[in-house]
This record gives sequence, C-alpha cells and structure tokens, in this order.
Amino acid sequence: MTAKILVVDDEPLLEYVIQQKFRQKIRAKEFEFLFANNGKQALEKLAENPAIELVLTDINMPEMDGLTLLEKLAEGDRTLKAVVVSAYGDLSNIRTAMNRGAFDFLTKPIDFRDMEIIIQRTLDFVKRTREDLTKLQQTQTQLIQNEKMASIGQLIAGVAHEINNPVSFISGNLDHARNYFKDLLHIINLYQKHCQDNLQEIEAEIEALDLPFILEDLPQMLDSMTEGTDRIRHLSESLRTFSRADSSNRVSFNLHAGIDSTLIILRHRLKGNDNRPEIQVIREYGELPEVQCYPGPLNQVFMNIIANAIDALDESSLKKVKGEIENNLETHPNQITIKTAAIAETDTDRKMAAIRILDNGLGMTAEIQKQIFEHLFTTKPVGQGTGLGLSISRQIIIEKHEGNIKCISSPGEGTEFIIEIPL
Ligand SMILES: Nc1ncnc2c1ncn2[C@@H]1O[C@H](COP(=O)(O)OP(=O)(O)OP(=O)(O)O)[C@@H](O)[C@H]1O
Ligand SMILES: [Mg+2]
Repeated sequence: MTAKILVVDDEPLLEYVIQQKFRQKIRAKEFEFLFANNGKQALEKLAENPAIELVLTDINMPEMDGLTLLEKLAEGDRTLKAVVVSAYGDLSNIRTAMNRGAFDFLTKPIDFRDMEIIIQRTLDFVKRTREDLTKLQQTQTQLIQNEKMASIGQLIAGVAHEINNPVSFISGNLDHARNYFKDLLHIINLYQKHCQDNLQEIEAEIEALDLPFILEDLPQMLDSMTEGTDRIRHLSESLRTFSRADSSNRVSFNLHAGIDSTLIILRHRLKGNDNRPEIQVIREYGELPEVQCYPGPLNQVFMNIIANAIDALDESSLKKVKGEIENNLETHPNQITIKTAAIAETDTDRKMAAIRILDNGLGMTAEIQKQIFEHLFTTKPVGQGTGLGLSISRQIIIEKHEGNIKCISSPGEGTEFIIEIPL
C-alpha cells in the first residue's frame, strides 16, 4: 500500500527537491507526496484525500500557519499524525507544536536522511493505530451483534416454546372433537332411523339448519384447523432451529435445515406486494453431510444475505414499476436461487460445503462491490440499512468458521454470494 504524505510549505522549490530525494520510494509506490502552500490548502487536500496518513508542515506560512493547522487537525481524524518542520533552535514553536499534538519535529535546513527516518517511524505508528482501531471497531460490532442475537435468540426460543403448549392442546383436542363428531353423527342417524314421533317437526328443523351442509362442512373445518395448527408447529420449530444459541461450541448441524428455517422466517418478505409478485425461491440442494459449526451465527449469515437479495429485488421491482428500467417482471420473475454442494477448496483441497445464493436483482458496480464487506458501508437510506450485515457475515464465516465468502455481481444482471464452510 502506498503511503500518502501531505507536505505543507510555502517554499515552491521544496516540492521539486522532495520528488528528487524520494524518487526511488515514489517509483516503488511506497510513498506518494501531495503538496499544499499553507494550512488552509492543506485542510482542503485532506478533505479530498481521507487516506493521507502523515502531514509534514512548516510553521510560518501565509493565510494559515502550521500551529493553527495542528489545532484544526486535532479536531479531525485522530489517527492522522503531523510532523512539524521548524527553524533550528526555535524551541518555543516546537514546544507549542508538540503541545498541540505534533508527533515529531524536523529542523531546517532539512536533513533528508533524518526526514526519511522520521517519516517511516510516523507512518508505522499511524498504520498500527489504524489497524488497532479497525480491530476494535470489529470487536465492538461483533459484541453488539452477539449480544443482540443472543437476546433475540432467547426471546425467539422462548416464544416458540410458549406457542408449542397451546398449539399441542388445540391439535390434541381436534382429534377428540373429530371422534366426538363421528359419535354424534352416529346417534343422529340412529334417531332418524328409529324415532317416528313428531317426525315433521324434526324434518322442518333439519331443513332450516341445512343439516347435510353442516355434516359436510364440519369435518372440513376440523381439517383446516388441523392444517393451521400444523403450520404453527412447523413455524415454531423453524424459529427454534433458527435461534439455536449455541455460539460457544461447534455442533453438528444440517445446513439445509438452517437455510429452510431462515426462509420461513423471511416468508413475509418474500410474499408479493404492491410493486411485485411473490419472489420465487429455487432450491438446488446437493448432498451435504452435517457440518460442525456454530448454527446460530451461521443462520444469521444466511439471513443477512437472503435479506440483501430481497432488498435488491425490491429495489429493482420498484424501478420497473416506475418505468426507470424495462419492466420484465412477467418474463423475468424475481428469483432467489440457493445451491449447495460438497466441493474441494481451490488451492488447498480442503473439503468444503459450498452454499451459493443468487438473485436476479439490480446487481452492483465494481466500485460498490469492493466495499460491501466494510464495516458500516451501505448504499441504503438511513433507517433501511446500517451496513453491518455483510461485515458481520464476513467475520462469522472467515474468523469463526475458517471458511470463505465472496461476491460476484454485475450491474443489471444480479448478484451471487458464495460461502464455503470446512467440512
Ligand atoms: N444482493 C445484493 N444486490 C445488490 N447489492 C447488494 C446485495 N447485497 C449487498 N449489496 C450491497 O452491499 C451493501 C452492504 O450490505 P450490508 O448487508 O453489509 O449492509 P446493508 O444491507 O446496507 O445494511 P444492514 O446492516 O441492514 O444489512 C448494501 O448496502 C448494498 O449496496
Ligand atoms: Mg444487509
């Protein structure tokens, strides 16, 4: 990685001298120098180039001097470091500069070997600080997410458990109700056969209540109640599969069950809405043995990626409805395809379970694709996306499972995520 260094000095010749003295490092792409004539220009350059790691600044300059610049720098990115260049023996300015957060100082006339050493040392420091900061941010995200998932997991598992009890007494009683109904029917039939008194009155009542209809409808009603309770039971099972909170130990887990439970939880989002019909989910599952993994976090990855695919399809459908792109929803329905297979990893030959999740939504540009796994990167409006989904997924797959995750996408065509977990 080329280190970007901003040199701030009102001496026009300095740019030439620096390019000369450091030409090898510049050619080797180790250093890239940017130049500004005063503090004000320096701040503008910094705003344009957030990747600048080091500012080398003179003290006396027109418009904004070096000491004021240091003050402004302290308000911005704390990982950026400044080195001041001052006249030899100008101890009072050097002291002020150090008090304002300068990392080091150089004296004029500049000794370029000295300069190189100081540049290198400062860059190392900045690099380490930035790495530590990134790690810290990732740990923080992971902690927040773990905490959130653990409590959501517990909640879901609790609710699923609470649902199970009432559902099982409904479904248990439905069987009895069906039997009682049969018994009552039998008795009615017996009455009809043997009871000859007041026949007219009974027949009038049978007519009024439409007994044949009741006899036909009641069993159907009971069947649909059974179907309803079965569905609730299925849902609560999926909730429990999904929220398996065993994130501290690896356990044996059926990935297909994980994906299916995730799809059930996302069912309300897959259904049709004002802008589009229901999203078709195509499952092409291969033969996969159970995988030793952390089921809760892994389901979270499936959830993040499938939710992103639904977002992408929602967005493209909206554009189609608005007429911004060709509306081919009839001929090219929204689809999410999930394929699984056992494969051998390309360079190592490790046996892996590969899960590929494809959507035919808007896709993304190469520029966006480069950033999607970054912490807090999102293209979605505030309130809709936090930019955490994929950075967390990456951590879960790469760090927690020693697997791989990558993305292939082209604008207008769609997106594919490939996840590989060691078997
Ligand atoms: N299937 C996809 N199709 C198109 N763009 C995608 C797809 N998946 C991810 N992206 C892009 O990657 C970005 C980052 O995704 P990520 O899941 O990390 O965050 P997010 O979805 O924006 O927010 P959230 O934290 O709620 O998940 C998205 O904002 C989007 O631009
Ligand atoms: Mg997301």
